[in-house]
Amino acid sequence: MIDDVSVCIVGAGKMGEALIHGLISKKAIAPSRLFAVDTLLDRCEYVSKKYGIVCDTDVTKLALNSNVIIIAVKPNDVERVADKLRTLLTSKQLVITIVARISSEFLSKILGGEIPVIRAMPNIAVLVGEGMIAISRGPNSSTEHIALAEEIFSSTGKVAIVDEKDLDAVTALSASGPAYIFMIIEALSDGGVTVGLERDISTLLATQTTLGAAKMILETREHPAKLRDMVTTPGGTTVEGLLELEKKKVRAALIEAVIKATEKSRGQLTK
Ligand SMILES: NC(=O)c1ccc[n+]([C@@H]2O[C@H](COP(=O)([O-])OP(=O)(O)OC[C@H]3O[C@@H](n4cnc5c(N)ncnc54)[C@H](OP(=O)(O)O)[C@@H]3O)[C@@H](O)[C@H]2O)c1
Repeated sequence: MIDDVSVCIVGAGKMGEALIHGLISKKAIAPSRLFAVDTLLDRCEYVSKKYGIVCDTDVTKLALNSNVIIIAVKPNDVERVADKLRTLLTSKQLVITIVARISSEFLSKILGGEIPVIRAMPNIAVLVGEGMIAISRGPNSSTEHIALAEEIFSSTGKVAIVDEKDLDAVTALSASGPAYIFMIIEALSDGGVTVGLERDISTLLATQTTLGAAKMILETREHPAKLRDMVTTPGGTTVEGLLELEKKKVRAALIEAVIKATEKSRGQLTK
């Protein structure tokens, strides 16, 4: 449990709620130390009721009382939020931004240039405590700030510390990544149905197989190719399937997907 720190999440949308859900369900922080802010009253009432935390449509009081402020609004709203926070925060507080396309330097300037800023890129799997969150040091942030951000996010998944220049690649791989994997699981399930399996069974087989394979890599720390070799009997069924994947250039398509998404993220950097 994160002690002696209160956290305010500004923007209780999809990602804001996923973080709240992860932090509360993993008991990483006491509900009395977690706050949320959202412009929509309905949204605030929903979040308050569901997670037992205080949510307000006005950032003033909650930001003043928080050690860490996580900005989780859309890029177009970030200047408005930061402008307001500039009048409220001091350099003793920490701002973590999960907003895509906005650099920590730009945000730091709007915040007045003295408040420590950390940039983070989570993915939607924080919702189930299996997120991948990359964090990078921004202006005025120290190793202690990074350690605090790591502690907060590690309750919702795995954390990697990267340079901010690598966050476009992170966005393309792990932030967009769940969508790629959902598509792969859906396609495998379609394959199972095509050869006669019931849809429910087929989706379960595809999903659990994906989870198991991922867990094997994490636990053994072996190169994926080595593990692939373990299940590929010469002349057997697996190699037949792999051959088809190679013929259809699945590997090249996935590599290209990450390259293209990185380029898109780089091209979209607004500030
Ligand atoms: N979704 C992902 O997988 C993902 C992954 C990594 C990073 N991100 C980043 O996370 C951020 C949020 O994305 P999202 O998908 O969660 O968007 P979202 O669902 O639209 O959530 C944003 C929320 O912030 C609220 N908001 C807007 N202005 C505000 C203000 N001034 N004060 C307080 N709340 C305000 C919005 O309310 P209204 O609806 O009234 O505007 C909305 O509820 C984005 O910057 C995105 O780049 C998302």
